[in-house]
Amino acid sequence: MRWKSVVVSGIVCGVLTASACAPAPTMVASGETSTAPSSSSAPAATPTPTATPERSAGSTPSTPASTPTATPSSEASVTPSVEASEPKEPSEPEKTQQPGDDNTAAPGDRPDCTKLRCIALTFDDGPGPHTKQLLDTLAKTGSKATFFVLGPNVASHPELIKRMDKEGHQIGNHSWNHPQLSRLSSKKVLSEVERTSAEVKKVTGHGTKTVRPPYGDFTKSTRSTLAKFPSGEIILWSVDTLDWKTRSTAKTIASVKKEARPGAIVLMHDIHKPTVDAVPAIVKHLRDEGYTLVTVDDLLASEHPKPGQVFTHLG
Ligand code: NI
Repeated sequence: MRWKSVVVSGIVCGVLTASACAPAPTMVASGETSTAPSSSSAPAATPTPTATPERSAGSTPSTPASTPTATPSSEASVTPSVEASEPKEPSEPEKTQQPGDDNTAAPGDRPDCTKLRCIALTFDDGPGPHTKQLLDTLAKTGSKATFFVLGPNVASHPELIKRMDKEGHQIGNHSWNHPQLSRLSSKKVLSEVERTSAEVKKVTGHGTKTVRPPYGDFTKSTRSTLAKFPSGEIILWSVDTLDWKTRSTAKTIASVKKEARPGAIVLMHDIHKPTVDAVPAIVKHLRDEGYTLVTVDDLLASEHPKPGQVFTHLG
């Protein structure tokens, strides 16, 4: 079974069933809730993010869009069996690079993204059956990434969470059930993120800090609530590859090549094999362009993020 993208009354869906529809994201503008801004360069149902109170989107065209994802239960029951049936494709041969080479930060050193051309690759909704392949790719190149994980998938793949942590990747929080946080009470919002954080802590010994609300959907109230969750900065994105929609390795690579900027935060999903297959070429391209691939924490270190602060990129 394949997912398909549909638009129902302004709602963007990446669905197995209509029940998994993902409403177009609502974004925060000047501390207020706004809905679905349009963009001439984006599909009608793909809103362009508005500036946040803390940061301007600046010159980087930010396009938080829906990250349509089935609920964890449907992912867990369908995604592995569907994607496991796909033929294995040979990985692109890569040169093995060690940390400290070229534009890779030396071990133990936090890259100075005020001086380097930093970019943060982020992967949502996992971990999943293809995440090991992704971690292998990142390890070969000494690249770091950030994973915004769902609690049930953490519980299903503790070994991958452990490996992410051990290999210096950042584990962010993408909630437990992948709901629209804007529709939940404060209590339920906290429950969503605390439950997933606790699941991560079981494996790594420490919980998650940063949060990416599913669909980029939140309100002023959500922000206030998340600010109570250990540090709770909200991480969106400035490059939306639309990998969930295209399910195309070539288009995902092309999107990053076209939109990459120093300071960018790139949105992808490691539950999709075409995306994971795109990463070797993406990493190679970015490194050839002089980028250092860093975690979100490293990217934003110079900003000293505050609880509830919203970021789409650095700079
Ligand atoms: Ni998601």
